[in-house]
Amino acid sequence: MAMQSSARLIRRYYHEMWNRWNFALAHQLLAPRIRFRGSLGVEVRGIEAFKGYMRHVQSAFPDFSNTIEEVVSQRTRIVARLSYRGTHRGELFGIPPTGKRIAYSGAAFFRISRGKIAAGWVLGDTAALIRQLDAPPSSQSRGATESGLRIVAANAGQRDWAASLMASSEPWITLRRDLASCRTACHRPDSLLFVALSGTETCGFIILQRRGVADSPYIKSLAVAEQHRGRGVGSRLIRFAEDFFRLSASHIFICASSFNSRARALYERLGYAHVAELKDFVIPGASEILMRKSLLSTAQVNASAR
Ligand SMILES: CC(C)(COP(=O)(O)OP(=O)(O)OC[C@H]1O[C@@H](n2cnc3c(N)ncnc32)[C@H](O)[C@@H]1OP(=O)(O)O)[C@@H](O)C(=O)NCCC(=O)NCCS
Repeated sequence: MAMQSSARLIRRYYHEMWNRWNFALAHQLLAPRIRFRGSLGVEVRGIEAFKGYMRHVQSAFPDFSNTIEEVVSQRTRIVARLSYRGTHRGELFGIPPTGKRIAYSGAAFFRISRGKIAAGWVLGDTAALIRQLDAPPSSQSRGATESGLRIVAANAGQRDWAASLMASSEPWITLRRDLASCRTACHRPDSLLFVALSGTETCGFIILQRRGVADSPYIKSLAVAEQHRGRGVGSRLIRFAEDFFRLSASHIFICASSFNSRARALYERLGYAHVAELKDFVIPGASEILMRKSLLSTAQVNASAR
């Protein structure tokens, strides 16, 4: 592919797809099995997961804009220096919306194959971004900074940590999930895995699937390290998942094993209702209880009933 058209592809990617939230263009510009790490540190594979990442950025900064400061291209490799700007309207890194205008920088490395973006790796200055969101704490963001909890996309080491926690915890012990199968679950490219951090300590994780049940978002797994349980971390991770999907879905699903009555009680308290019992689903003698919560506000429900 000519150098000029590779650079043109990258310009279309930023100006026409990202800056206009043109999700449909993803199929024209991206290779179906694209591997991508975004400026916020989220790693995804495939176009649907990529669009999920776009929605994540959109929910945090609905007016997000990318400015290309510089592009260097060499055959199928392109490097771009970017400036990002936006207004913080949705939870990000566990920080509730502050309404602040933010700006941060990034460096993006792309590989082009057959006229499409096959891989992208972007290093964003998230430390500068978090400083702008955190300091000084506004009345809205105080809760997050006081609790000291941040929710971030997991890196490979944190995925391994999540797999070890899963394999050593109920309900997975009873469900006979060994470390190898937990590792597979935590490294699946179509699963979004986020961890809750208290300072530098990892306290819990949540695995999300955009189309896990009935074409709707699904909380696939959730666990909090034993010493951090009962302090609101699990509830916080669930709220994070709900906010993550709120702009793009009207329902979210979760499952609890029939013997995991404390988790079920927690989900009920958070507004999840029983929809189905899947008998003998993972192991004989135990059911998986499928639960669902509406992500629509009362105003939206009333409007759609009219
Ligand atoms: C379920 C779980 C994620 C909740 O996380 P958490 O940070 O303890 O949750 P919160 O602090 O927000 O809420 C606490 C509530 O969680 C529920 N809970 C479920 N299992 C619990 C456990 N093993 N220890 C403490 N609380 C638990 C209780 O209802 C508790 O309320 P209570 O204090 O009135 O008893 C966590 O307990 C856990 O990791 N359990 C083991 C793995 C698991 O069961 N995952 C769910 C798979 S469906």
